[in-house]
Amino acid sequence: MTISPSGVTLLDLEPDADDFLAQAVAGLAGKPRTLPSKFFYDERGSDLFQKICELPEYYVTRTERKILERYGAEMAESIGENAELVGFGTGAGVKTRMLLGHLRKPIAYVPVDISKQHLTESADALSREMPDLEILPVCADYLQPFELPTPSIKPDHVAVYFPGSTIGNMKPETAKQFLERVCSLCGRSGGLIIGVDLQKSKEVLESAYNDSAGVTAEFNRNLLVRANREIGADFDLTNWRHRAIYNRAASRIEMHLISERDQIVHLGDHEFAFAAGEKIITEFSYKHTIEGFRALAGSAGFHFARAWTDPEKLFAVFHFTTL
Ligand code: AVI
Repeated sequence: MTISPSGVTLLDLEPDADDFLAQAVAGLAGKPRTLPSKFFYDERGSDLFQKICELPEYYVTRTERKILERYGAEMAESIGENAELVGFGTGAGVKTRMLLGHLRKPIAYVPVDISKQHLTESADALSREMPDLEILPVCADYLQPFELPTPSIKPDHVAVYFPGSTIGNMKPETAKQFLERVCSLCGRSGGLIIGVDLQKSKEVLESAYNDSAGVTAEFNRNLLVRANREIGADFDLTNWRHRAIYNRAASRIEMHLISERDQIVHLGDHEFAFAAGEKIITEFSYKHTIEGFRALAGSAGFHFARAWTDPEKLFAVFHFTTL
């Protein structure tokens, strides 16, 4: 337990440091070669991701925000009063504030995030803004099982909020397992409000992930910068090119780093030979249909309540419930 300056108590379930070296070596030895996308988000990577969210080509963030502006009150009504709102990776972001602002008599807000500093700062800021709301931040990896803290007043139900289409970065089987865990975390009469990016034209998708300012390319290559700094790799950045392609058959964007020439890369005692044109897959970003995502959440035990979308059907926000 840690108590912040404004008196918010943090439940610290921070996991042990991940073994970046072991995961990078295993990924680069595989076929196809991969590097784990969860290592994108060091300080520089998180800053670059913030910039991505503001790019003209990256419609995802602004479209979800517009859906919330337009339908936030309906979402809050669909959730119902006396809820404990649990936010996954949301901090006190704009979208969370918008939803909280509409909720009738929320009992508590439980932001769950792996970044302790970000979590404490945003919980403090929110507690100054909403002094009557009980805020119970939990530092944990929400992709792993964890227990919720107990609010001082018993809520009628738990509603999990998972915006940003982060679910899209999970393979369908992983997404199903994750949703099953969320379903049991919600308990009875609970709910899930989740933002999901939808299938659309290859052109729109590829330009969102190959932006003209090159921010996504920098975000992608930052994985190599981080590997050089943290696990003794010797990637020569000038030898790697970013490219995102939409794999229509699998309904996913695939982020690649492509080797510009024949080269050898070392990671600790390991050595990897890359041929010119050979690629490393660094991320998948799955794009769903409304029906497909309903079925996926249904297979994890959720019941469909409502979905809201924008006029172009670029993005959808779903409300699922538990019985
Ligand atoms: C965090 N996630 C939902 C982003 C996405 O769109 O898949 C990550 C991202 N990668 C490149 N651009 C954005």
